[in-house]
Amino acid sequence: MEDSFGHHINYLRISVTDRCNERCSYCLPDEDQVWAEREETLSDDEIVRMTAAGARLGITRLRITGGEPLVRPGVVDLIARLKACPGIRQIGLSSNGTLLARPHGTGTLARALREAGAEALNLSLDSLDRETYARTTRRDFFPRFLEGLDAAQEAGFESIRLNCVLMRGTNEHELWDLADFARQRGCLIRFIELMPVSSRHVLTEENFLSAGEARRLLGFRLGPLTPLPDFKTNGPAAYYAVPATGQRIGFIGAMTNLHFCESCNKLRLTADGKLRPCLGSHLEFDFRHALRNPATTEADLERLFLEVVAGKPKEHEFRDNYQPGRRMIAIGG
Ligand code: 5AD
Ligand code: SF4
Repeated sequence: MEDSFGHHINYLRISVTDRCNERCSYCLPDEDQVWAEREETLSDDEIVRMTAAGARLGITRLRITGGEPLVRPGVVDLIARLKACPGIRQIGLSSNGTLLARPHGTGTLARALREAGAEALNLSLDSLDRETYARTTRRDFFPRFLEGLDAAQEAGFESIRLNCVLMRGTNEHELWDLADFARQRGCLIRFIELMPVSSRHVLTEENFLSAGEARRLLGFRLGPLTPLPDFKTNGPAAYYAVPATGQRIGFIGAMTNLHFCESCNKLRLTADGKLRPCLGSHLEFDFRHALRNPATTEADLERLFLEVVAGKPKEHEFRDNYQPGRRMIAIGG
C-alpha cells in the first residue's frame, strides 16, 4: 500500500490492551486510571480479522504493543494466530519486560512468546538506578525487569532492543551507563525524545532532552559518535557508532528531526479498534463499529483500510502545539 506522499505501508502496530502494570509518568500521568471496558477492546477474533485484511493489502510486519501487551489474557495464543495469517512475516513485541520471567506452561512467558512466533522484543528501560526506575514508572519493578531480560535472552529472541526515553534531570547523567549496559547485554539501545502523546504536562522545557544533546553527552565519555546512514531497523531511528567499540546506538528524534516522517511505513490499531494513520495526528477511523456490523464484508474492511492509508498525513503535528487527545497507552506506543 502506498499513501499520497509515497510512504510505503507494510507495518501495523497493534495495541492489544490499554492496561499496564506500570505507571510511567510520560505515559500515564495519573495514578487513578480509567481503563476501557472489556467489550470496548477488540477480541482476538477481531484483531485477527483486521490483521488478515491488512496482510491481504501488503502488511508484512506486526508489532504488538499496549499498554503492556503481556497483561492481556491469552496474548500468547493471539500471537500464534497472528503469526499464522498469510503474508505476516515478522512479529515484534514492545513491552516493559517485567512479566517475561513469569512461569508459563513448562517454561517462562518469554519462551512461550518466542515459541508462538514473536521474533523481536523492544523493552522499555529508562534507568538502571532502582530508585529512579521506581520514580519514573511508579512501580519498584527494576529487579523484575532484569529477570525479564534474562528470561528473554534465554528464550532466544532474534533481537532484543532497549528503548530509553530521554528526560533531563532524570536520566541524562545515566546515558553512558545505559549504553554500556546495552553493550554488555548484546542489545541495541535507542534513545527516544519525549513526545506530547499522553498529557500536555509531561513534555516541558525543563525535562525535554533532545537526541542531539544526548549524542553530545554520550560523546563526552565515548568520543564523537559517527553517523551510520546506511544502518536501518524497521522504524525511524537514526543510528550512530561509538568509535572505540563499534557499538551502535539509535536515536528516535520525533521532535527535532525534521525528516522523521519521511520513511514512515506504519499504521496503528488501537485497543478499542480505531485505525490511526499517524501517532501525531488526531485522525482515526472506527473499525470496531464495522467489525461488529454483521453486514460488513472482507471487501468492505479492505476498502476502509485503504481509506485510512489515503488519509495518512505527510508528517506528525507534534511541532504545531499538538494537544494530545488520547493516552499513548490506548494508541499503542
Ligand atoms: N514520549 C516518548 N516515548 C514514549 N513512550 C511512551 N510514552 C512516551 C512519550 N510520551 C515509549 C515507551 C516505550 C514505547 C512503547 O513508547 O518508553 O519504550
Ligand atoms: Fe506501561 Fe509502557 Fe506506559 Fe510505562 S510507557 S506506563 S510501561 S505502557
